[in-house]
Amino acid sequence: MNNSLDQHATPLFEAVINYAREHKISFHTPGHKHGVSIPQEFRNFVGERIFDCDLTLLEEVDSLHDPRGVIKEAQKLAAAAYGSDYAFFLVNGSSGGNHAMILSVCDPGDKIIVPRNAHRSVLAGIILSGAIPVYVMPERNDEWNLMLNVTPESVAKALEEHPDAKAVLVTNPTYQGIAANLKEISRLTHKAGALMLVDEAHGPHMKFHPDLPPSAMTCGADICVQSTHKIISSMTQASMLLVRRSVDILKLKRVLTLLMTTSPSYILMASLDLARMQMATRGKELLSVAIMLAEDARRRINQISGLYCFGHECIGQAGAFGLDMTKLSVDVTGLGLTGYQVAQMLNRNHKIQIEFADIDTFLCIVSIGNTSKDINRLITALESIAAEAPGSTRNRIRLRLPSNTPEVVMTPREAMFAPTVKIPLKDAVGEVSAEVFSPYPPGIPLLNPGERVSADLIDYLKELQARGGRVQGQADTKLRTIKVVARPGLEIKKVNKDVAPNMEKRDNASVSGA
Ligand SMILES: Cc1ncc(COP(=O)(O)O)c(C=O)c1O
Repeated sequence: MNNSLDQHATPLFEAVINYAREHKISFHTPGHKHGVSIPQEFRNFVGERIFDCDLTLLEEVDSLHDPRGVIKEAQKLAAAAYGSDYAFFLVNGSSGGNHAMILSVCDPGDKIIVPRNAHRSVLAGIILSGAIPVYVMPERNDEWNLMLNVTPESVAKALEEHPDAKAVLVTNPTYQGIAANLKEISRLTHKAGALMLVDEAHGPHMKFHPDLPPSAMTCGADICVQSTHKIISSMTQASMLLVRRSVDILKLKRVLTLLMTTSPSYILMASLDLARMQMATRGKELLSVAIMLAEDARRRINQISGLYCFGHECIGQAGAFGLDMTKLSVDVTGLGLTGYQVAQMLNRNHKIQIEFADIDTFLCIVSIGNTSKDINRLITALESIAAEAPGSTRNRIRLRLPSNTPEVVMTPREAMFAPTVKIPLKDAVGEVSAEVFSPYPPGIPLLNPGERVSADLIDYLKELQARGGRVQGQADTKLRTIKVVARPGLEIKKVNKDVAPNMEKRDNASVSGA
């Protein structure tokens, strides 16, 4: 094996700890000077060493914006491990990666095909770039009230209707672990002359186990972003962007320089180096245990009356080509409780914190950091919650997601920067939203800026709120008002002060169709 590509090597991590061991006198940032001025309470809890590793760009540890040494080597190792031509370390999560991915591929006015349930950072990338989103609806399983993934057929239709699309973006797998037929979607995308982008935030482990759905790079993606921190073992915020030569690398580098902090954390970056080493050298072995634990949990959850956790039976439905079994999406409707309530009981009564809950379900992510003891605790807690639950709510009316894709009236960017009027939400039917409404988690917008507000959507948001759900992104957290794009005739007294001076001009110019 070529020594420089020995996947046991961790060049960046080693450079950081070697530097930390030297205890050089610091007249550089960060201001805490190896932790000396960090308040004692923090130091007492975490120890001293971590602050020695909190460095700034120095010759010995290289520079993320112009890597020539250990960061370059570490990124090269990551690219080799994942089968891409390049890898870029990110210190602003996959959110930053999605922004960069879209900005590097789309100029203002370019079309990008995206699933309607893409993460809000995809929307942010669209707003920043000025791209025009062409939405494809993911499939859904009505019985489980669950969004699946997109199909090759729906992507093919979008490509046919928009032959000028620059790129197709797919979220793979979804938060709940549902994978699309990415290989076929990549083939169709490339045949149409577009680039394949993948939000693989939830899939940085997939490359390393044959029983998991194939990774974006394996399926021929041109560029993908992964939340290494979410699923494997880097520190929170530490993500990666994997890229093929088919992408304009110089433009991508310019975009990354534009977006990323000039003070990236060496703790985060070193953790990426280690996470890659761990997966490349022991990934299969570690993931086998995680998969076994998750499958054991799934089987035992399904033995508890009132709970249902789908597994491989989802595969084969349209929009469900594969499954990442390490995600446990548990339907609790049979207990007569909401997902929020079960999550709260797990947390308060059993000291178990799950990933997210919604009305009907909660989601557990099982990773290489979990043990059989964790699974046993989860099952015992769920058995105890089920034993005391009020009973089935099979008759309860499920809250169904609005089935129609909202009408896109203007690009998210146009709506975001247009003059706006704040009006009562109940009066907003037919108006064009200037805000995002996104239940969080999972951070998938129900309404984007530039989309027409429907009565269905308002009912859904109100009902979601009444059942304990949280909606983020919009200014009014109580959901009484909404900012819509101004048009002649809308109540003038409620125009936001900050945009009022421009309003007349914009009214006459671009908002008349709203
Ligand atoms: C599908 C998807 N993409 C992107 C992101 C953003 O990732 P990060 O939190 O690493 O910025 C998330 C976060 O939940 C996500 O679920």
